[in-house]
Amino acid sequence: MASAQTRSANTKQSSLADLYQSVRTRTLEIVAPLEIEDYVIQTAEFMSPPRWHIGHTSWFFETVLQKFQPGYRTYREDFLFYFNSYYEGFGARIERPKRGTRSRPTVAETKKYRAQIDEQMMRFIENVSSRSDADEILSIVRLGLEHEMQHQELLVYDIKHLLCDQFDAPMKAAPRSQKNVGGMVEIEGGLFELGCNNGVQSPNHEFAWDNEKPAHKVWLADFSIDRAPVSVGDYLEFINEGGYQNFRWWHSAGWEKVNTEHWQAPLYWELHDGEWMIRDFAGLHRAIDKTNDPVSHVSFLEASAYAKWAGKRLPTEAEWEKAATLSPADDSKQNFPWGDATLDESRGNLFENGLWSVAPIGSFPAGQSASGCHQMIGDVWEWTTSDYVPYPGFKSEFDEYNDKWFVGQKVLRGGSFATPQIHIRSTYRNFFYPHERWMIAGFRCAK
Ligand SMILES: [Fe+2]
Repeated sequence: MASAQTRSANTKQSSLADLYQSVRTRTLEIVAPLEIEDYVIQTAEFMSPPRWHIGHTSWFFETVLQKFQPGYRTYREDFLFYFNSYYEGFGARIERPKRGTRSRPTVAETKKYRAQIDEQMMRFIENVSSRSDADEILSIVRLGLEHEMQHQELLVYDIKHLLCDQFDAPMKAAPRSQKNVGGMVEIEGGLFELGCNNGVQSPNHEFAWDNEKPAHKVWLADFSIDRAPVSVGDYLEFINEGGYQNFRWWHSAGWEKVNTEHWQAPLYWELHDGEWMIRDFAGLHRAIDKTNDPVSHVSFLEASAYAKWAGKRLPTEAEWEKAATLSPADDSKQNFPWGDATLDESRGNLFENGLWSVAPIGSFPAGQSASGCHQMIGDVWEWTTSDYVPYPGFKSEFDEYNDKWFVGQKVLRGGSFATPQIHIRSTYRNFFYPHERWMIAGFRCAK
């Protein structure tokens, strides 16, 4: 009779095999509308060609096979060089800005590599439960799948930069706003438990990154936070009132960007005959027709300037998390703004909604928090004023993954329309540099 330990490894192994197949398939679905020429072009140093993403996510699993599969023979040495991202521990690699300077490996070779790795990984996962190191392997495979979901989201950003409305995205119609959402809610301060508590049980909490742990108490003063993300209409006012021409709203680093990069509006905004237009996957729209959409493609520097102009500030990540997880009944914490129920398409705009765009503010009343904040999960990652640093008691669970980035970046919360549903949690800490804005990032203000 199988021991309880083996039975549990068997269950984990079969659900992980299913997850493996669905995640790996989705990556290929995202790139399916691309033409062969699209796969290899790098339109900016900060983006990567789609070919690189599909190879790199396979390279990640090849490193698992190299470590744990006895007798595994490396697929091709030159692939290790081209598809490594930034891991010093895995040897020499091509510099990021040069990923688009090569035509080899070809797209066909890369896809063949991917298929080969998948075949080996499926066999490897099927046979893992009898091994004494099964738990370690299953958790690294899960980490590889979470890594791949991060790259799926990056693929959406990069394809947008590469093709934008020339990409034939399989878009569904945007929902309509069902509710006017405005103003701020007041939230009482006090001791708050920030971060992921290992005891939480939900599909989105089977896995959590090391940087979300350990949960720990922080003190918060009373604060107010916007009930909705800052909208295109709000942001248009900032632009029209000369926000990008007035140094007084900007951090020094932001003012420098305004002047050296000639920022006048968020990324993907274009001025046509004196009128601001926004380009997205669906085409070119007048900004005044999108006033109720959350603003996106703003940097931390722009979000901060707007907040100062509006007489507010950005929330800290602890304030954001408290607003997103506070249970109305008692002072306890719940998994999501709406409670502990699983995330679905009625609660927030994630990748599965298929919009390839933000949704109007007020489209997801079922996803609002107990305190009355809307769209905290999905639509746009929200900038916080918090530095991306380790929580007290942090223990690295994977070399060179999260901990090597603990300097100079800001935390964003909540996920975007490009984030897979299963990938997001209220405690999830994303991070980018303050000037970056090609990702789907917006914000809400606090006071
Ligand atoms: Fe990566």
